Amino acid sequence: MTLVFASNNEHKIREIKSLLGDSFTLLSLHDINIREDIPEEEPQIEANAIAKARFVFNASGMNVFADDTGLEIVALNGLPGVHSARFAGEKKDSSANIEKVLALLGDTENREARFRTVIALILEKKEYLFEGIVNGTIIHGKRGTEGFGYDPIFRPYGKIRTFAEMELTEKNTVSHRARAFEKLKEFLLQY
Ligand code: IMP
Repeated sequence: MTLVFASNNEHKIREIKSLLGDSFTLLSLHDINIREDIPEEEPQIEANAIAKARFVFNASGMNVFADDTGLEIVALNGLPGVHSARFAGEKKDSSANIEKVLALLGDTENREARFRTVIALILEKKEYLFEGIVNGTIIHGKRGTEGFGYDPIFRPYGKIRTFAEMELTEKNTVSHRARAFEKLKEFLLQY
C-alpha cells in the first residue's frame, strides 16, 4: 500500500518508516511535488492534523496521513499544546520553548504533563483519527542531549530518565508518537 506522509521533515520520515515497517511505501510531500508549507493554524491538535491531511488529499487525491503533536501541561491548562513548536516565538527554538515552560512553572508542585500525538488518515476518501499519549512529569531543569523539542524536561512515568537521556529505541517503547503509529499500523494491516 502506498501512502503520502504529509511532511518534508527527513528525520520524521525516517522515524515513521521504521515505526511502520516494510509493508507500506511512504511518499513525502517532496516525492509528490508539493513544495508549499502546509498551514498549521487550527486551535486544536486534531483539527491541525485533519487540516494537513485534507490539504494534501485535495492537492493530490492520494491516500494520505498527517500527524500533529503537543505537550500538554496540567498546571498550564494544557499549554503549550497545539502551540508547542512556536511557544516562545516564530523561530521554533526548542531551548527558548523549554525556558518558557520552566519559567511559567517556577516552583509549581503539580508538574504533571503528557505528550499527545494525533494522526489523521484519509484512506479511499474516508477520514480516521488515531491518538497516542504518554503521561509524565516536567522536571526542574534540563537533562540529556538526545531527541528534540521538549525531550530534556520530560520524564515519562515509570522511567528514571528523561526522553533526552534515552536512545530512540527506548523512547519508542513508550512514546506518544510510537503509540499513535502502532494504532495506525494495526488499522492499515487489517484494512
Ligand atoms: P509536530 O506536530 O510533530 O511537528 O510537533 C510539534 C512540536 O511539539 C515540536 O516542534 C516539538 O516542540 C514538540 N514535540 C513533538 N514531539 C516531541 C517529542 O517526541 N519530544 C519532544 N518534543 C516534541
